[in-house]
Amino acid sequence: MRIGVPRETTAGERRVALVPESVSRLRKGGIEVRVQRGAGTAAFIPDDAYVAAGAELADDANAVLGDCDVICKVQRPTPAESALVREGALLISLLQPSTSADTLQALNTRRVTALALERVPRITRAQSMDILSSQATVAGYKAVLLAGMHTPKLLPMLTTAAGNIPPAKAFVVGAGVAGLMAIATARRLGAVVSGYDVRAAAREQVLSLGATFIGPEPQKDAEAAGGYAREQTEEEKAKTLAALAEHVKTQDIIITTAQIPGRPAPRIITAEMVHTMRPGTVLVDMAAESGGNCELTKAGEVTDVNGVTIVGAVNLPSSIPFHASVMFSKNVLTLLQHITTKEGALALKLEDEIVAPMCVAHDGASRA
Ligand code: NAI
Repeated sequence: MRIGVPRETTAGERRVALVPESVSRLRKGGIEVRVQRGAGTAAFIPDDAYVAAGAELADDANAVLGDCDVICKVQRPTPAESALVREGALLISLLQPSTSADTLQALNTRRVTALALERVPRITRAQSMDILSSQATVAGYKAVLLAGMHTPKLLPMLTTAAGNIPPAKAFVVGAGVAGLMAIATARRLGAVVSGYDVRAAAREQVLSLGATFIGPEPQKDAEAAGGYAREQTEEEKAKTLAALAEHVKTQDIIITTAQIPGRPAPRIITAEMVHTMRPGTVLVDMAAESGGNCELTKAGEVTDVNGVTIVGAVNLPSSIPFHASVMFSKNVLTLLQHITTKEGALALKLEDEIVAPMCVAHDGASRA
């Protein structure tokens, strides 16, 4: 069996799906790996490192996409790339299936089996394959660094001959994987941190990281399937807005991460709230790509609203490409080990509890 790793073509994408360490693990299991030249360059992984790990280099995408049994990618392939994939091959990548009709059609024409990485089920067995968690960890960390770059203040408390500096105040909205990493990172940098989430379990986790919990008491039924939040009722939303409105007026850094799977991001910070914030406040909106938690967020842009900086954060994991790739690759490697035999042959079981929810195309047809 041969696995192919093409160079990413999506604008701004600097990660690579497999790093050399994973390649050498696959090679030890008798699996061949073909990597397109330059696939790791944007993540600072040279071609030589892949060769040293036992990979074969290919000069162009065609030799990877069109001549491997399994293709591992970060971003979904374009319809043109999909049309190059070898008939009957297996594709493992992010696929955004709900907005990828053209790509899925092209993959179905080639009878490609496609596993969407964002659909790894959130069960204990699949935790080490969960790219949503690994990449959210990277993103939560980077969000705090971005806030630190934009704030006109120091984050830690300082007692110096030039006077005493109070610690910055950071507020993290949404305490899932990314939010908890943001809380931990802001604490490490010395900020005084508070957090809010609708789920009761998240409240405990916020407190256990040494942050304070702000906002209404989470409701017992706020958690839906898979540990995700359900959408709040209008009454709950109004309560949240009222509780957070006072708090945001006093913060230096606000990081919003709230998401509801399959829905636009909940609106938690209104324009009115932004207008009450102190000049110099920085808001990093990690939900920018799904509509934003702040009404004034522009995805991919940094906006100034009367001295408040709003960062519409997009694809943060790609901005820490080396370690984001290392973690992504480990997730993909674990998935590959799950679907191959000890002898290095593909043994995909479509009814498997991990594979079934991930499989979005097989044998010429899309699957829900
Ligand atoms: P996510 O990215 O979908 O959402 C981020 C956070 O926003 C969540 O904590 C959610 O509760 C919160 N949120 C939603 N609406 C909100 C609102 N109106 N106000 C404030 N916060 C709001 O979620 P993520 O981070 O991917 O995971 C959430 C949970 O899923 C985890 O904390 C965990 O319980 C579970 N999980 C389970 C895994 C496993 O078992 N393998 C792996 C990863 C996560």
